[in-house]
Amino acid sequence: MPQVKPVVLITGAASGIGHATALTFAHAGYRIAVTDLNDAGGAKLVTEIKAAGGEAIFIPADHSKEADNARVVNATLAAFGRLDAAINNAGVEGIPDLKVEQQTDANFRHTLSVNLDGVLWAMKYEIPALLNSGGGCIVNVSSVAGSIGLAGMAAYVASKHAVEGLTKVAALENATRGIRVNAVAPGAIQTEMIDRFVGKGESQARHDLAAQHPMNRIGSADEVAQAILFLCSPASSFITGHILPVDGGWLAK
Ligand SMILES: NC(=O)c1ccc[n+]([C@@H]2O[C@H](COP(=O)([O-])OP(=O)(O)OC[C@H]3O[C@@H](n4cnc5c(N)ncnc54)[C@H](O)[C@@H]3O)[C@@H](O)[C@H]2O)c1
Repeated sequence: MPQVKPVVLITGAASGIGHATALTFAHAGYRIAVTDLNDAGGAKLVTEIKAAGGEAIFIPADHSKEADNARVVNATLAAFGRLDAAINNAGVEGIPDLKVEQQTDANFRHTLSVNLDGVLWAMKYEIPALLNSGGGCIVNVSSVAGSIGLAGMAAYVASKHAVEGLTKVAALENATRGIRVNAVAPGAIQTEMIDRFVGKGESQARHDLAAQHPMNRIGSADEVAQAILFLCSPASSFITGHILPVDGGWLAK
């Protein structure tokens, strides 16, 4: 941990897991750079962090575009002068309930362009910035869908399986360079993404989704944020290339 306040970059932080992660890292003493497609949500988060005495900037970005990923890292370095941790969280679920034979090029390409290309291009520019700062940590946000199939979710499942492979490659390439690269694999977590799946409020679909988890509940974004903070802390100093489930036991079945 540097003497100056460490800097974290969090992608897709206007909502859900990214939002909770930004607040958790701000509370832990990090300076925060957040990105999103959603300008209003990003600006609101920065106001929230500053009101609590933290330092934060919002950088509008579309992570599916390589150039935006370069611009985001440059803007973070311009604002704070260093990068110590990067959380590649921006993601989309794609169109739900599309069987393989119903897939469209548009859905498959869009889902992979955000969830997979976005993580590749982010790491491409984050790694040199982390090296220049003396090392650091990357945490990619995968899913239980990174290691099991979910019917009707071909594009999402393919993207998350690939992100876990990419995480391991980046971990190997950087293991002796002071950069640890890990991923979290959340189960169902209460965010807008889950509301889009099962609707807001109680429903049979929400009950059935909760029942997929041996703990028989949906998780909170804060529970994922705490796991991400752990993977960026000295407490995880010998952990790299690992996929950490935050899933109430789903993957243990
Ligand atoms: N909620 C869950 O149950 C769950 C479970 C497993 C994994 N995840 C993963 O967690 C991550 C966050 O999901 P969430 O549940 O918080 O969803 P969310 O929809 O609440 O938040 C995702 C954020 O990413 C942003 N975003 C989307 N595309 C972007 C792009 N191209 N460039 C920049 N920002 C973009 C959105 O605007 C949004 O603010 C995703 O990678 C998702 O796949 C979520």
